[in-house]
Amino acid sequence: MQSVGVIGAGQMGAGIAQVSAAAGYRVILSDVDQARAGAGKAGIAKRLARDVEKGKIDADARDSLLGRIEAVGDVAAMADCALVIEAATEREAIKRQIFERVGKVLGSDAVLASNTSSIPITRLAQAAPDASRFIGVHFFNPVPVMGLIEIIRGLATSDETVATIETYAQQLGKQVVRANDAPGFIVNRVLMPMLNEACFALGEGVATIPDIDLACQLGLNHPMGPLTLADFIGLDTCLEITRVLFEGTGDPKFRPAPLLIKYVEAGWYGRKSGRGFYDYSGDTPVPTR
Ligand code: 3HC
Repeated sequence: MQSVGVIGAGQMGAGIAQVSAAAGYRVILSDVDQARAGAGKAGIAKRLARDVEKGKIDADARDSLLGRIEAVGDVAAMADCALVIEAATEREAIKRQIFERVGKVLGSDAVLASNTSSIPITRLAQAAPDASRFIGVHFFNPVPVMGLIEIIRGLATSDETVATIETYAQQLGKQVVRANDAPGFIVNRVLMPMLNEACFALGEGVATIPDIDLACQLGLNHPMGPLTLADFIGLDTCLEITRVLFEGTGDPKFRPAPLLIKYVEAGWYGRKSGRGFYDYSGDTPVPTR
């Protein structure tokens, strides 16, 4: 059985670890320390317990899936991994430090992939141990539910590296799209302007929070309205990606909405901070304006 290393045990990393283990891979899941990695694995166990209750998976399959995930406090345990996926905080300096540490243990044929949603792959590859074995592999939240992986090749990424990721995605049962190394790749290039525009519309008093969301949910048949989705992704993340689009293209159509900036400056990041366009402190989210 091949081993996959996943660096970062937050929402995305834990999701990637879960679907990799579900596909039969042995997974080494790391974070800054053993406790954080363990918390990521505990979150997976909690989600799987719900799936067992719903009858989506039986208890034996759940136990063997969890048995394939090892939570560790350091990337040193990833020496045998054929593929290592970095899903750490979306900060370039942090990712560069991680690549330096991984470079000391990564096997000579192993592929290093980043789940970055916005940092250019060709630039990140400069910090990777081997740019030809470095690639972007962009998952979507919630990872176990979303059927897509965007593959982004940097200038130096080899065909073999692309093939490794395509085989892995196939194993996971995810569809693959290939995107060029352009700001926002495909999905965020299209999605973020919509979420940003919803913030402009709210700021300009076009409609209330629930009406903007309901309009898009029912009028466009989207599973979530744009303000609910922005809260779900994290308003800080939405702003960060919108800034990448704005700065990367130089096109004023991508300028971030003042209201989005204000919410982020207030620390209202959405679901993860308990408040964004909705207040999440009670049983059901309540619009904040
Ligand atoms: N992990 C695993 N499974 C989850 C989950 C999670 N975090 N959240 C929900 N699910 C599962 C539920 O178990 C349920 O499964 P079932 O139907 O088999 O029982 C199913 O998803 C539906 O969940 P719910 O009934 O609780 O709720 P909804 O019907 O409202 O669905 C949703 C929730 C799947 C999140 C749906 O609202 C949705 O698809 N929203 C849009 C999500 C989206 O657009 N994601 C992409 C964001 S962009 C991104 O990630 C890129 C990044 O770079 C910003």
